[in-house]
Amino acid sequence: MTDRLRTTALIVAAGSGSRAGGAVPKQYVLLGGKPLLRWAYEAFARHPAIDEVVVVIGAGAEAQARAALGDGARLVTGGASRRESVARGLAAVDGARVLVHDAARPFVPAAVIDRVIAALDEAEGAYPVLAVADTLVRDGAVVPRDGLARVQTPQGFRTEVLRAAHAGWPADEEATDDAQMVRRLGGRVVLVQGDAMLDKVTHPQDFAAAETRLAFETRSASGFDVHRLEAGEDLWLGGVLIPHDKGLSGHSDADVALHAITDALLGTIAAGDIGTHFPPSDPQWRGAESGQFLRHAAGLVAEQGGRIDFIDLTLICEAPKIGPHRPAMRARIAELLALPEGRVSVKATTTERLGFTGREEGIAAQAVATISLPEQPR
Ligand code: CTP
Ligand code: MG
Repeated sequence: MTDRLRTTALIVAAGSGSRAGGAVPKQYVLLGGKPLLRWAYEAFARHPAIDEVVVVIGAGAEAQARAALGDGARLVTGGASRRESVARGLAAVDGARVLVHDAARPFVPAAVIDRVIAALDEAEGAYPVLAVADTLVRDGAVVPRDGLARVQTPQGFRTEVLRAAHAGWPADEEATDDAQMVRRLGGRVVLVQGDAMLDKVTHPQDFAAAETRLAFETRSASGFDVHRLEAGEDLWLGGVLIPHDKGLSGHSDADVALHAITDALLGTIAAGDIGTHFPPSDPQWRGAESGQFLRHAAGLVAEQGGRIDFIDLTLICEAPKIGPHRPAMRARIAELLALPEGRVSVKATTTERLGFTGREEGIAAQAVATISLPEQPR
């Protein structure tokens, strides 16, 4: 029978990330729009068997950690080595079981957490390992790989056993692995199956590898806009100035096509609409070039780790004829969104002289934007 002991996740994130280089320590670098550290934090926080999460951070990193994790996170200041950081974190742990995890392993499968916790019913410690598949060499000579495994985290322990291992550890000896510390002091430690998702981000190229492990979901949203046609106005459509006897009127440059695309993009991340971000009542947008609205929306998508997959625009008007201007519009929209032109479609239709577009009182535009977004909680 599984007991219901209180279980704490202890995430160590107090390292300097020296091997990863970069101006920002690796645990705060954005991965899929989220600081690296937050990925593991959320994985433990939402796991039903985890009762609390304690995060060990570097001295002076509190503001950075709060920005990454929010105000509710329990933070402890770490030490000069990983071992010291774990020891300091342990002092703040109140669970009878503790799972120690490297922040540098952002993706934590719930099944691994389950396996580690289940193993603690019978053992004092449990840690995930992966078999080594590649041939290993040392100084060019093959090292037999039977019996070798790659050690991962989270590593689970009866909390008092891990505390005792840290308390009894010689201060002048380094250790980077809690399971080995417990084992050395005679604790019963077992292995469970690890997961390639748990690979550590250590070197600069590991960020790219971690990106490829992100799961994405597809989002599509539509946008629609209308502006009035009037004599004496410029006609901006799709970021292109088009010669015509009338132009569109509005508060900004009234580029109905860019407005529809902007709304479609904002829709994919449920970020309101163009008026939410650029109120028509605000004089600073008078005559504004609509390309900046589009770039702003694209920036918001990028901030969330999203990628624009496709833009499909339909202009609805009798005149001017859109066909001759289609290549220029595609090129300009693609340029504004930093997309290849193949990911932008521009179409047009009349309404058979029916309605306000048919009477050439105005031009309407509708757009569909499709993006890929790092998978969101359901
Ligand atoms: N860690 C820690 N306190 C330290 C050193 C490391 O909490 N004094 C944490 C790191 O933040 C990381 C985990 O231990 O989540 C594993 O360490 P590692 O991957 O080596 O990270 P860094 O020590 O930050 O990187 P590097 O060794 O390249 O400097
Ligand atoms: Mg290190």
